[in-house]
Amino acid sequence: MGVSVGSARVDEAQLADWGAEFARRLTAPAVVGISGELGAGKTTLVRAIASGLGVAEPVTSPTFALVHRYAGRGVTVYHVDAYRLKRADDTGDLGFDDMLGEPDAVVLIEWPERLGAASPGLTHRVALAHTGEDGTRHMEWS
Ligand SMILES: Nc1ncnc2c1ncn2[C@@H]1O[C@H](COP(=O)(O)OP(=O)(O)O)[C@@H](O)[C@H]1O
Ligand SMILES: [Mg+2]
Repeated sequence: MGVSVGSARVDEAQLADWGAEFARRLTAPAVVGISGELGAGKTTLVRAIASGLGVAEPVTSPTFALVHRYAGRGVTVYHVDAYRLKRADDTGDLGFDDMLGEPDAVVLIEWPERLGAASPGLTHRVALAHTGEDGTRHMEWS
């Protein structure tokens, strides 16, 4: 990583390493938007970041609930997946205000663009994309 803005081509292990390092450097409260098409590796990255933040239990994709909450090491980790939102006004009860009322919150959001105007301000952005080559992804972060 090295700097706060960058890009890289990563295999799955390198993405996991990046997520672990990112977690080490992260200061709560933080809101991380993770963009990319289906299968780009967003949930894979969320798992790596959550693990780096001390979440011991398995991180599973939020489906019906849209938001999962985990206890990390001195932080509360929220995993939001906005993929299934149909309209931005569906976000009324996702509870961002409550999450961000907690000073130790780290909110990791897949498909942040689907939140529209209801999106909280993102402190970090990561975009993942297929490269056309099996097993690698292009990533950009800021
Ligand atoms: N370099 C890579 N980075 C992330 N995932 C990868 C990579 N190469 C292959 N994969 C695979 O791609 C899939 C990504 O799935 P997932 O993280 O659920 O994507 P998303 O949440 O973006 O839909 C996983 O099956 C993972 O094993
Ligand atoms: Mg996902």
